[in-house]
Amino acid sequence: MYRTHDCGSLRASDINAEVTLAGWVQKSRDKGFMVWVDLRDRYGITQLIFDEERTDKALLEKAQQLGREFVIQVKGTVIERESKNANIPTGDIEILVKSLEVLSESKTPPFTIEDKTDGGEELRMKYRYLDIRRNPVRENLIFRSQVAMEVRNFLAGRDFVEVETPVLIKSTPEGARDFVVPSRMNEGQFYALPQSPQTFKQLLMVGGLDKYFQIVKCFRDEDLRADRQPEFTQIDCEMSFVEQEDVLNIFEEMTRHLLKKVKNVDVTDFPRMTYREAMEKYGNDKPDIRFGMEFGDISAFAKARDFKIFNEAELVVGIAVPGGASYTRKEIDKLIDWVKRPQVGAMGMVYVKCNEDGSFKSSVDKFYSQEDLAQWAEATGATAGDLICVLSGPADKTRGQLSALRMELAERLGLRDPEVFAPLWVIDFPLLEWDEDTERYHAMHHPFTSPKPEDIDKLSTDPGNVRANAYDLVMNGNEIGGGSVRIFDKQLQALMFDHLGFTPEEARAQFGFLMDAFEYGAPPHAGLAFGFDRLVSILGGQETIRDFIAFPKNNSGRDVMIDAPATIDDEQLKELNLKVTV
Ligand code: AMO
Repeated sequence: MYRTHDCGSLRASDINAEVTLAGWVQKSRDKGFMVWVDLRDRYGITQLIFDEERTDKALLEKAQQLGREFVIQVKGTVIERESKNANIPTGDIEILVKSLEVLSESKTPPFTIEDKTDGGEELRMKYRYLDIRRNPVRENLIFRSQVAMEVRNFLAGRDFVEVETPVLIKSTPEGARDFVVPSRMNEGQFYALPQSPQTFKQLLMVGGLDKYFQIVKCFRDEDLRADRQPEFTQIDCEMSFVEQEDVLNIFEEMTRHLLKKVKNVDVTDFPRMTYREAMEKYGNDKPDIRFGMEFGDISAFAKARDFKIFNEAELVVGIAVPGGASYTRKEIDKLIDWVKRPQVGAMGMVYVKCNEDGSFKSSVDKFYSQEDLAQWAEATGATAGDLICVLSGPADKTRGQLSALRMELAERLGLRDPEVFAPLWVIDFPLLEWDEDTERYHAMHHPFTSPKPEDIDKLSTDPGNVRANAYDLVMNGNEIGGGSVRIFDKQLQALMFDHLGFTPEEARAQFGFLMDAFEYGAPPHAGLAFGFDRLVSILGGQETIRDFIAFPKNNSGRDVMIDAPATIDDEQLKELNLKVTV
């Protein structure tokens, strides 16, 4: 037996017990006549003691040779510690070692295996297995597993069937680039890795499974960000004979369940907000509603005077920054520089200080009276002590810029508390989105999303304003999930393909299998997919999904540990009938 206990479980009540422990040497202190070793495993740290008086000489010498991260096994007696350590659960005891076996030696690790390590990101990724020994990384992985278990518990309790769908498939139309895999047996042909199991889950509904879920890897060849990885995991779900309301209700319940189970948080509000409202109030389709700072449209007041910039703008919009009236000129100038950075792209920013005495001081006092500014304050909800920040320009762009400013200020003001959870549904997304590059409409969600029946007429007259039965689950300013009611009528599906610029032949070539399936009695169905990595990281109080993935890719899509992607040898290329010309 390698161990009788793990390194986190011995207590004062175990004093005098004979035990065997195994683990890694976290650190050792050698006083010559006495050696202490911190022995670590997944469960904790236990102190080992070797000393001249009670330990034989050879054993003491052996202990003195131990290096960091050696894997050892010890046998010994649990004794009371002289100087107790209240910071760790095993801090009342130590093990007086009687025998020691080195199971595996270790080179000096390239960074310290401590909560706060000296290793940079790239180095830690190269030696990810060492990084995983660190508490924060290990705890994140355990947390992820716990969330996955709770998801399975919840869905299994509601009759969802977990089904695996294939990974070598044909391109799925989710809008990103596909990763492709050459087929050896079918010369010149390629599989694509699924961007999601979308079409398969719809086929499972045609197959009568009624309620499906899968915790599944998806692959998208897109530019990476903190919340994006080229391979990521979805909790993918689909249900038959349901309407949008049914889907929202069950997954709202699941979100509440997870928050309760893994965070012990009871969510009181779970609002639903239309896409339009989200854009108008927050300039963002994934609003962070943990704090206010809602947009105030002041176009009407701002355009009533002689200020050319505002008069020429499509939209003049502001937010109230709590306590911002006390910002110095220098601080405000810095804020203006911030919105002018190319990443934000504003031309400038007008500001109004709402003084404690009820008066206003603005950067446009020349054009606006105190009464005018009082109207701005009213529209933005600013009160004494606040700063109103105002941006202007084309409506969509300006909203985007103000949203960036709102998030930045909230971050600086500490309003984005990671232990507060504010989920909401954003509903009624537009069905179509104009793409400047290709000069045509694209499906905003995907081509199987159902338009709102009352908007179908507008498909030919006003396509940009057709709303979809599509919804996103948003939490703390992040899109955690998204889905839609699907089209299950082949005529409506053909009409959609037509509006998306597919010829009937193209539609058949790409989605013939789905259209064929719809010839055989497709039930009404709807579903959604959670971004599992995002869900876990937000629940874990962070926004970088890499930290919750065991072996993530870096920002160039590389796994620096296994050094992938990599070239393949000529023999493999030949077998696949591929030529590389770089
Ligand atoms: P969608 O494309 O919105 O919908 O994806 C669902 C959720 O997956 C997460 N996500 C990602 N997470 C990490 N890295 C990525 N590169 C990445 N891309 C997406 C997001 C997103 O909300 N088939 C549809 C779902 C449906 O209609 O049922 C789909 O995939 O959190």
